[in-house]
Amino acid sequence: MTASKRQMHLGVFWLGTGNHTAGWRYPGAATSNCDFSVIEAGAKTAERGKFDLFFISDGLSFDAGDHPSFVTRFEPTTLIAALGVATKHVGLGATVSTSFSEPYTVARTFASLHHLSGGRAAWNIVTTSQDKAAQNFGKGQLADHDQRYEVANEFVDVVRGLWDCWDEGAVVRNRETGQFLDPSKIRALDHKGRFYQVKGPVNIERSVHGRPLIIQAGGSPPGQDLSARTADLVFSVINGDAASAKTAYDSLKSRVIKHGRQPKDVPILPGVMPIIGKTDAEAKAQLDKLQGWLSSTNALTLVSHRIGHDISAYPLDGPVPDLPLTKGGQAFSQTLLDLARREKMTLRDLYNVTAAARGHWVIYGTPKRIADILEEWFVSERADGFVVMPAYFPGAFDDFVDLVVPELQRRGVYRKAYTGTTLREHLGHAVPR
Ligand SMILES: Cc1cc2nc3c(=O)[nH]c(=O)nc-3n(C[C@H](O)[C@H](O)[C@H](O)COP(=O)(O)O)c2cc1C
Repeated sequence: MTASKRQMHLGVFWLGTGNHTAGWRYPGAATSNCDFSVIEAGAKTAERGKFDLFFISDGLSFDAGDHPSFVTRFEPTTLIAALGVATKHVGLGATVSTSFSEPYTVARTFASLHHLSGGRAAWNIVTTSQDKAAQNFGKGQLADHDQRYEVANEFVDVVRGLWDCWDEGAVVRNRETGQFLDPSKIRALDHKGRFYQVKGPVNIERSVHGRPLIIQAGGSPPGQDLSARTADLVFSVINGDAASAKTAYDSLKSRVIKHGRQPKDVPILPGVMPIIGKTDAEAKAQLDKLQGWLSSTNALTLVSHRIGHDISAYPLDGPVPDLPLTKGGQAFSQTLLDLARREKMTLRDLYNVTAAARGHWVIYGTPKRIADILEEWFVSERADGFVVMPAYFPGAFDDFVDLVVPELQRRGVYRKAYTGTTLREHLGHAVPR
């Protein structure tokens, strides 16, 4: 397949109050992250736009100055269970942390979701970056960064092992003979590892659509290795710099090959916030309006989280300080600090950039200009698609689906119709046997 024939994959990052920290203040925008009717309508909009994925993020603690949708949010697996009933095609991704869950519970939850949604469930693996979360689980602080990934690697192996304890056809259900199960098609896991001992099998049969899918978003070297080894889809953090995005893309794809997999087995989707207007100037004015609503409390909390250091003591109009490698999330920290150095930013500049899309890439312009940028990044293999992060809902997402998606379809880089009903089919992955 030539590069121009590749099809872009699209996911939407749902946060009820909008991905922009101040998105909920936009006229007509939803102001709640816990209003199911708005989320359900958004999932149906994603299907109208033939999206691969509707994604629900998660965190296990919050600060008062956090993004409003981090302060009050539905538990993601419960939410995607409800969305599975309301939709038919779109994949449903939910974050669950490997630092504060048990593999048996996660295997069981996602196996159930995969059945309930007809093959559309995906687990976004995170290791959690905030010490505050540890304090909600009887621990004083997070384990060290690389150790969290050692745990995550074993955790994922156990979860996949539990899913694979069941062969297809293990449940016979033969009324005539009275045979319900074929025990030769079910095995114990008998996992005895460094962090987990899990006997298995899990108490739910394999779905006809195979095991649930795995998403991974860690961008540090151990995060990339986990992705390369296990992920069916990767979310990446970029700051709009084409050269560093290409290097990161190629580096992950070469890790994928080292793990004996094909580059296309692991599509890479950077997060991007598109601000859409009838003219470029109108889009810029919309972004300026949103930025004008930011408070320094919001910005300070976000930047400190993303950089992984409390920076409240540094002068706002001074340069971004040199800081050691964080114990929290490294991809955001590195991406933002690189950007600050490259653009010679003050701390206030970095506040403004980070608070807009929480450190993700922001682009603005007409639908055509947005489509030009996305197409260029896709065709030049800096991305296999995008996680679209509308600044507010539903308006900014409707604009993307109604105005940008048709542009992408016209250019032949994005599907006009679903050709399957499962997330694996949307991504072009075979069912693992
Ligand atoms: C599109 C996208 C979605 C993400 N969703 C979550 C999330 O739901 N919860 C979370 O803790 N981190 C989330 N992250 C952050 C990454 O997982 C983060 O980079 C990681 O936790 C830190 O790992 P690293 O040190 O390997 O970079 C997301 C990142 C991206 C790009």
